[in-house]
Formats: sequence, C-alpha cells, structure tokens
Amino acid sequence: MDLIPDGFVNTETLPEIMYKKQKRVILMATHEQIYQNQSDTYEFMISKQPELSELIKKIRPYKDLNILDLGAGSGRLASVLAKDAKSLICTDLSSSMLEILDNKLTEQGIARNWTTVVADHRKLPIADQSIDLVVSGWSICYLTNIKNEKWNENLRLIISELNRVLRPNGTIIIFETMGTGTETPNPPEFLRDYYKALEDDLGFHHDWIRLDYKFRDVEEARKYTEFFFGEELVQKIIDNQWSTVPECAGIWWRNL
Ligand SMILES: C[S@@+](CC[C@H](N)C(=O)[O-])C[C@H]1O[C@@H](n2cnc3c(N)ncnc32)[C@H](O)[C@@H]1O
Repeated sequence: MDLIPDGFVNTETLPEIMYKKQKRVILMATHEQIYQNQSDTYEFMISKQPELSELIKKIRPYKDLNILDLGAGSGRLASVLAKDAKSLICTDLSSSMLEILDNKLTEQGIARNWTTVVADHRKLPIADQSIDLVVSGWSICYLTNIKNEKWNENLRLIISELNRVLRPNGTIIIFETMGTGTETPNPPEFLRDYYKALEDDLGFHHDWIRLDYKFRDVEEARKYTEFFFGEELVQKIIDNQWSTVPECAGIWWRNL
C-alpha cells in the first residue's frame, strides 16, 4: 500500500492483479474515472461543504474581473464567481465534470458570461495577459504530488502558464487538501513538497481553514465519501459516528 496516498484512490474497485502491476498508473486513472463516470456523486459530496466566495473576496475582490477557474470540475468555485465576474473561463480535463458545471450555472440563471474548455493545466488555450484572477481548487495536486516523477517540472510549467495568462496585477488563489477526517491540518505526505515549493520557492502566502462535510446522518456520510476517499475514512466515520466529516483545506495566494 506504500504508493497509494489516502484520498487519491479507492483500491477496493480495482482488480488486485492490475493494482499490484501498475499501482502508479491506476492511482491516477482511478480518480480520472471518477471525474468522468461519477461526476454527479462527486458534485453531491462537495455540495455538503461550505462555499468560499467570502474568503476569495477577502484575498481579491472579483467583481467585474476576467477570471480563470483552473480544474473547475463540477463548478464549486465557478458557481459563486460567475455571478460577479466580467468573464469566467473554466478549464478541466473532464468533459463530464464541465457538463455538470454548465448545467449548474445555467440553472442558477446567471447571464452567460462563462465558457468551458477541456484543457490540461500545462497548456492553456488562453491569450497572454487576458486574466485578472486565477482560482484553482483541489486540482493542481494531480500533477504536482511527488508520486509523479515530473511533479516539480509540472509545477513550474503550470505557474509559468498562469504567469503568461495573467495581467501584471493578477492574482493566483490555490486550494488544496490539508487532510480529510482530521480536525487540524495534517496534509498527506505526498503533497508536502509541493506545498513547501509554493511557499518557499514561488512566494505564495498560506493559511488554512476547516471545510467540513455536513451530511444528513452517518449513513449518508459513509455512502457519499467511500467512492472517493476509500475504506480508511469510512472506518473513521463509523468509529466516530460522524455525520459531519472534518476536513482541513489549505489556501495559497500570490499577487503578481
Ligand atoms: C478534486 S476535483 C476539483 C474540482 C473543483 N475545482 C472543485 O473545487 O470541486 C479535480 C479536478 O481536476 C481535474 N484535473 C485533474 N488533472 C488535471 C489536469 N492535468 N488538467 C486539467 N484538469 C485536471 C479533474 O478532471 C477534476 O475535475
């Protein structure tokens, strides 16, 4: 189990033999599969967490800005940003997640100021100096965790792309996990070098907040977290009889 970071894979769903042969490949493919095939369940799970508009506003008021939501997924951040943004570009590798985002924003009746684009973080189809604010939630980590041999190169490529698309007074805000099922920050080992690089090498400020999942009851908590976080969290939920599952989130931000 040494290569499997908690929260990044549900090994229960994998044939054991493939798991043993290709741990690392399957590790990434599995979450990819969730984003393609279980995007509705992911959306339900994160709808149980608090929304982040006030926090983002404190770092960078975003009314009438041109915004990029990098790895926008099902639109957790996009759905609060779109209301006030001048324009919003939502990129992601998963067309299925972007479809949910599109439907969600349409249902909210927001004037269509957003676009969705399937794109990798390392190569953005976005013009130079066209963006004021980049937000990215729980997404850059897929390329920058140390299980990925190119994590450091990937991080440089992503930051260089963000610097390219941002205007001179632009802002980057990144959210990543500091631990699920924990009441104080306890980031997964495999993400610590990435976080350290953001702070020590790339000049990001850092803080953390609680972002607990508030489910109806223990059964709902179990049912809607297992597919994503796996057996270990489920055991904690049962042992502690949690309907509210504690989660810590890290925030990193930098003004150009
Ligand atoms: C945990 S979800 C977060 C989604 C959303 N930002 C949120 O806050 O809920 C991670 C998202 O990152 C996307 N993703 C992962 N690697 C990516 C990459 N290299 N380029 C673009 N998107 C990527 C996934 O498809 C998925 O939608």
